Amino acid sequence: MEGVEETLVVIKPDAVSRGLAGEIISRFERKGFRIKRLEMLRMTRQSAEEFYSVHKEKPFFNELVSFITSGPVICIILEGRDAVATVRRMIGPTKSWEAPPGTIRGDFSLGLTDNAVHASDSRESYIKERKALFGI
Ligand code: CMP
Repeated sequence: MEGVEETLVVIKPDAVSRGLAGEIISRFERKGFRIKRLEMLRMTRQSAEEFYSVHKEKPFFNELVSFITSGPVICIILEGRDAVATVRRMIGPTKSWEAPPGTIRGDFSLGLTDNAVHASDSRESYIKERKALFGI
């Protein structure tokens, strides 16, 4: 299929603890994405700092790392057509309270740090984030 690529989704601790993982994974499957890899894990401080290294100068960096390491996350590699952009559209904007209904953040979150899901914003981010989480 033309334009097939991979992207990475992380279901964050807030969504995992609220029991939303199945619903979120199901949305990607119903859309037509193929799950290439899926793992539940607890990020270490070191892997979280590597995963979010583009944000290390931001004022919210510490809060972000503390939050993402606060409980288990579910890390998923998805494959499908135009996966990076399509998955970003499905999750909605970072500020969940502004996210439109029908998006994952729009339907399940009001948070900013605790905004249910993360997805790679580019091919380069995907490569870097995959390395931080899966070591590949
Ligand atoms: P995420 O897609 O995981 O990528 C970086 C995260 O930083 C973002 O979602 C938010 O959860 C978090 N974050 C916390 N504070 C802010 C902020 N002020 N602006 C943008 N992102 C923030």
